[in-house]
This record gives sequence, C-alpha cells and structure tokens, in this order.
Amino acid sequence: MDQNSDSLTEPLLPTSPVPATPEPASEADESDEMPPTVSTKSSKRARIFRIAATFLVFVFIVVGLTQSLRTLLILDSDDLDIRTVLLRWGLPMTTYSHTIYPGDFTRDIQPLPIHSHNDYWRRVPFYSALAAGATSVEADVWLFAEDGELYVGHDKSSLSRNRTLGGLYIEPIVKLLAERNSVPQIGMKEKEQGMGGIRGIWDTQPSQTFHLYIDLKTQGEVTLPAVIRYLEPLRQWGYLTTWNGTNLIRGVVTVHLTGDTPFDLMLSSSGGSEGIRDYFYDSPVTELGTGKYNISNSLMATANFKKEIGNVVWGSGGMSESMKEKVKGHIKEAHERGIGIRYWDTPYWPVATRDQVWGQLVACGVDLLNVDDLKGATSGKW
Ligand SMILES: *[C@@H]1O[C@H](CO)[C@@H](O)[C@H](O)[C@H]1NC(C)=O
Ligand SMILES: *[C@@H]1O[C@H](CO)[C@@H](O)[C@H](O)[C@H]1NC(C)=O
Ligand SMILES: *[C@@H]1O[C@H](CO)[C@@H](O)[C@H](O)[C@H]1NC(C)=O
Repeated sequence: MDQNSDSLTEPLLPTSPVPATPEPASEADESDEMPPTVSTKSSKRARIFRIAATFLVFVFIVVGLTQSLRTLLILDSDDLDIRTVLLRWGLPMTTYSHTIYPGDFTRDIQPLPIHSHNDYWRRVPFYSALAAGATSVEADVWLFAEDGELYVGHDKSSLSRNRTLGGLYIEPIVKLLAERNSVPQIGMKEKEQGMGGIRGIWDTQPSQTFHLYIDLKTQGEVTLPAVIRYLEPLRQWGYLTTWNGTNLIRGVVTVHLTGDTPFDLMLSSSGGSEGIRDYFYDSPVTELGTGKYNISNSLMATANFKKEIGNVVWGSGGMSESMKEKVKGHIKEAHERGIGIRYWDTPYWPVATRDQVWGQLVACGVDLLNVDDLKGATSGKW
C-alpha cells in the first residue's frame, strides 16, 4: 500500500524513501531531494502555494467555527426571530418547548393571499409559509387508531412519530398567538387590534386571519372527531373563526376541512344547520348553486382551474377573455354568499405564464392562490 502510493506520487512530488513509522516529511527534506538547478524556482512557488493553501484552510476553519458558535449561541437564546427558526430547524438540540417569540416575530412580513399547498413538504413546515407571507397552509392528516394521533404527511409511508398535527401546526400557532397577545394593547385603534381584541399573526395586519386547511386522508367518519378534538387549544383561547348560531364571528385562525370530510357529519357534529361551529367546509365552487353552502358552514370554495376554466395557451398573455369571464362568474357566485374562492391546478409552467395567470386571478378577485413554489409566488413579479 505504502509502496503503491509512493510510486504514484513520485513523479509529482519527489520525497525521501518512506520510513517505517511515517513522519511528516519536513520541507527541508523535500527541497534537499530536489535537483538543485532547475527546481529552486518551482519549489519556491510550491512553498508559497502551500503556505497560501494552509492559510486558506485556516481561514475556512475560523469562519466555520465562528458560524457554529453563532448557531450555538442562537440555540441558547430564547428570543427567536423567524429567520432563526428557519436556520436552526431540525438541529439535534432544537427544542421548541421554551421558545419565546419576540413581539416583532412577524414584523417585516407582508401577508399575501397565498395558500401554501402541501405545506408539510417544506423543509420547515408552517414557518417557511409564514416567512414568505402566506396566509394559508394545508396539512394532510392521517388518523392512527392505535394511539388516536393525527399524523401529517403526503402518504402513509412518509409519516413519522414526531410529525403530528399538534406539533407541526396547532402548538406553534397557539404559542405564537399567545405571545403576540401577552402584552396589553394600549392606545391601539380598534381595527388594529385584530378580531375580538385579539391580534392575529401579522404585525402589519393584525386583523388578517390565518387559514388552516386540514385535508382528511383517512376515513372521514373516524378522522373528523379527532380533528375537532385537536382544535381544542385554539378554541379555548378564542382564536377560531366561529359561527355562533346566528352570526359569523371572525377569528384570527380559520379552519377549513377538506379531503374526506363528510359534510353532513360535519354539520351534525356541531349542532346541525343552526349549530355553533368553528370549522368550515371547503366547498366545491361548482356546487354553490345547490344552496347547501353559506357562511354558517363554508367560508372558502375551491375549484380545479384546469377542469373548470381550461388550459392556458402559452405565450397568449395568460387567460383569454372568456376564461376571465368564467373566473369572474365563479367569484361572483361565491362572494354573493360571503364565501371566498381558491383555485388549484393552475398553470405552473412556463413561469411567465404561471405569473401572468396568478396576477390575473388576483386582479379578478380570487381570495387565495394555491402555491407550491413559495419563493416564486412571493417575489412579487405578478
Ligand atoms: C423526526 O424523526 C425522524 C426519524 O423518525 C428524524 O430523522 C427527524 O430528525 C426528526 N425531526 C425532528 C424535527 O425532530
Ligand atoms: C352571536 O353573535 C352576535 C353578534 O356578535 C350576537 O349579537 C349574538 O348574541 C351571538 N349569539 C350567541 C348565541 O352568542
Ligand atoms: C345555510 O345552509 C343550510 C343548508 O345547508 C341551511 O339549513 C341554513 O338555514 C343556512 N343558513 C343560513 C344562515 O343561511
């Protein structure tokens, strides 16, 4: 082995025969071995090169250490801003049990009508969406009978013990809102105080609600009661948008149920059509005409863009006039009932077309844009 590597390096870097116990060959040894005539120059150059390389490595190490030290210090600090949460997510020492959000946790964030689709796929669920200004996230939940827990993930194989609806969404939301409302709001205008005197997530717009879509992946009949139970902390603090039997009381968090949610069971679980409820059905835009849905049971409607509106022709400047008319028709039908609207399966490529359609949908009055690429959606080109 030694001999092998010797013979390989010999033509490049002549060294003295390798001793039985390898010692770092001193520089003097090496230059002694060099033929004195031609190589003095090149050996000098080699030495300068080596010194420079050593210096660079040293700089890298120092920078690296400083960074780690900073991260460690950040880990120790209780005061987090949102960038720090993103930075330290998943580090072994990370515990969120003592996390204290500063009052200005969301200070520079402008809330946008963006729905973070498959939010749990992002490296850092919830917080990535928040940092990007999204006002809506979606979590797919799976009920496991053995422990009655709701796990969050796209399919069964992607579930893990530490990714529950409570841990990834409910607890961070409750903590953040509790922190934001821990200081008495003195001298604030009523509209700045958010809903029911409770400040919402965003400093810049305290009355903006946070939309939490919960997509029931396991059988609705058994999953729904668990979901309703999971909302309890949000309910206790008065954060949830609630139909109180006669009026809609807007809260700082609004829950929309989708996926395998059984509409009738959702109604009967909350006192029937005249009941009190703090979760709402994600109704199909195409069924608004049936009169089944109103703000006592649904606050957002959804449609498949490709299916209901059509295919956008590339390079045609986005949606055609007739497509825009269709969108406006949907919006009118929803808004007449006080219901908002969201499209999914909008064009995602080419990017220019995607951005054009986003811009046109917002201009038409769509309430939430379904977005997979948070960065693209919040770069503001549309
Ligand atoms: C969650 O658990 C998985 C393994 O089950 C682990 O790889 C991952 O680091 C854990 N994540 C957190 C945030 O603790
Ligand atoms: C529902 O809310 C309205 C408006 O805030 C209020 O007047 C009414 O008394 C409430 N009803 C119940 C049952 O709390
Ligand atoms: C809402 O729709 C339900 C039918 O799904 C109906 O029974 C109820 O009276 C309606 N409520 C309001 C306030 O319009």
